[in-house]
Amino acid sequence: MIVEFLAQPLTILDHHYQQLKDDGQDVINGLTQKPKTLPAKYFYDDPGSLLFEKICELPEYYPTRTEAWILNQYADEIAEITNCCELIELGSGSSTKTQSLLTAYQKIAGSCRYLPIDVSGGILKTSVLQLQEKYPDITVHGLLGTYEQALAHLQTNYLQSRMLFFLGSSLGNFNHEECDIFLTQVSRTLQLGDFFLLGIDLQKPKEILEPAYNDSQNVTAAFNLNMLSHLNWRFQGNFDINLFKHQAIYNQVDHQIEMHLHCQKSHWVNLEVLDLKVHFAEGESILTEISRKFDLTKMSQQLDSKGLKTIKTWTDEKGWFGLILCQVG
Ligand code: TRP
Repeated sequence: MIVEFLAQPLTILDHHYQQLKDDGQDVINGLTQKPKTLPAKYFYDDPGSLLFEKICELPEYYPTRTEAWILNQYADEIAEITNCCELIELGSGSSTKTQSLLTAYQKIAGSCRYLPIDVSGGILKTSVLQLQEKYPDITVHGLLGTYEQALAHLQTNYLQSRMLFFLGSSLGNFNHEECDIFLTQVSRTLQLGDFFLLGIDLQKPKEILEPAYNDSQNVTAAFNLNMLSHLNWRFQGNFDINLFKHQAIYNQVDHQIEMHLHCQKSHWVNLEVLDLKVHFAEGESILTEISRKFDLTKMSQQLDSKGLKTIKTWTDEKGWFGLILCQVG
């Protein structure tokens, strides 16, 4: 079940957060297959979300800055084209970039609603409160839950014309199959005339991509390793993060960054809540994330095949990042 809360009262949040406890079947599946993998959603506990905010400010991590520039530049145009009243953001995090959109909608709309959705309760709660204060004419209503929970919830709670947005190239963190399923769900959630705004990182040389995921201050390494600490508290595990090393390589054939945690020494790990004992060999790695890099035209075609017709696309001057606005039609 997804949990809805208004800015007040805020105490409801912690109480409901308990109900979002995962049964961890996805962790069992990931760690018992070869090669081992872990689902990306476990990056985003509260410390993980804070580390991710730090990644977004790193000099090497160009995507956030570039997407923010595009949004800032074209927010008024987006608001004019869509002119809708319900803005829904999947994986909103701190909602920092979204503020250009909210400012633009506040200018044109009499009443408008913003629904940020995130799995990380701490950051969601803080941003709902801050945004509500900054945008008094917009009703800000946070949803704490996963993408799947959110999309299912939105299908049964249709109020008014919508724009769903998915920024930060989070779509790139799905493999081809997951991406296809996700886009099908998106198009089912929206109704005729509704909008979908998608931010995607575009293909570019390895020399620019790899440093973005291997920063000199090791924040990305800390973020990747934090996933193991998250599993330790969530499932009473005994991962020793000193036995793993962060690694991110660009696979030029599949156009994707592949993020691993590389095991330095043969050992066993227990996750008590899951009743799981897993062996790690020296040199073995866990794939924690992929970050696919896209071709704007191909993505537009894929969206089109899901009934999401491209209205307009925008990029930055270097063509590093793309924003696609589509409409269900
Ligand atoms: N959506 C972000 C991206 O693909 C997520 C991300 C950025 C990330 N840096 C990371 C995920 C480092 C794991 C590790 O760029």
